[in-house]
Amino acid sequence: GKGEFDHYMLKEITEQPTSIAQTIEGRYDPRRGSVSFDACEPETFADIDRVVLAACGTSYHAALYGAIVLRRAGVDADAILANEFGVSAPPIDDRTLVVAVTQSGETADTLGALRAASRAGATTLAVTNVIGSSAAREADEQLFIRAGPEIGVAATKTFSSQAIVLTLLADRIATASTGTSTLPIGDICADVDRLPSLVEELLDGSAAESVARRYRGERAFFFIGRGLGYPVALEGALKFKEITYEHAEGFAAGELKHGPLALVTPETPVVAIFTGTEDEKTLKNAEEAATRGAPIVAVCPDGHDALSIADAHLSIPDVHPMLSGLLATVQLQLVSYHAANLLDREIDKPRNLAKSVTVE
Ligand code: M6R
Repeated sequence: GKGEFDHYMLKEITEQPTSIAQTIEGRYDPRRGSVSFDACEPETFADIDRVVLAACGTSYHAALYGAIVLRRAGVDADAILANEFGVSAPPIDDRTLVVAVTQSGETADTLGALRAASRAGATTLAVTNVIGSSAAREADEQLFIRAGPEIGVAATKTFSSQAIVLTLLADRIATASTGTSTLPIGDICADVDRLPSLVEELLDGSAAESVARRYRGERAFFFIGRGLGYPVALEGALKFKEITYEHAEGFAAGELKHGPLALVTPETPVVAIFTGTEDEKTLKNAEEAATRGAPIVAVCPDGHDALSIADAHLSIPDVHPMLSGLLATVQLQLVSYHAANLLDREIDKPRNLAKSVTVE
């Protein structure tokens, strides 16, 4: 049950220190700086020269996150919406690894992509939360995210666990397929170990609640980020629109000036996510919005330059840039939760949506 919580969503956000600890348990060795999984032997990836991640919704945002980390590790990788896979999949052959990222393991679109990938001769891997799910059964290989059951329709703790598994997987694939990984996995893993306690620090949620209160009733909400901050911006906006029913959109920070800036007014708060890579550029992009009168909500560590133009601050701990997006996501989950709660929405079962989408 929900226990002391009013909603499963808040319970599941709050569980993240534990779910993350379960996700990483036994999967990396901080002393040797190496990753291993009980499944997915390194040979699985030895002949892989390209990775395609297919997913929908929040899982797609985790897949985008994973693709960026894979590319930083030196692996040719792309994320594609599973529902676009049939009409616009990149070339796939027996040297392609297709990763289906699906919390439930039952999403019809994602299963469709997985089956098409198998027919095209790819090696397939399911990254899922549900043992025995269709995706787990049908894929050649499985990696379980071990986040524990998620009841709220809005995916929360499963996003962080997916992003972490994909980050660890990136190093594994790079090492197995190219012989080296350009990822500083030792540094990353040192911080992976700190994630549960860093997330714990964020869970007080009072800053998120006051942001939700302060901007309640505004016309639209925009989220911008760069690099790993981009999928985080997309996810921040998806969560927000899904449970508040307010207009929210995520953009790559650099894209703002290529069109969306026309929407920016003093009535459109812009949530700017700073993940520690090219932050000065993202700050410039946020400034362009501030100049049009938009209040800027900066998601960044304390003492960050962005605070000079920020109307409000959601603090994230200083952590390896490959992981700070995860922490930003927790803050954004809390903002959405509180905004929806103030509007009295049906948080755990938003209108028109289902937890598991079993039609194409
Ligand atoms: O079970 P899956 O991860 O395959 O579900 C995919 C999407 O339907 C899902 O992530 C959806 O976008 C979330 N419920 C949004 O919070």
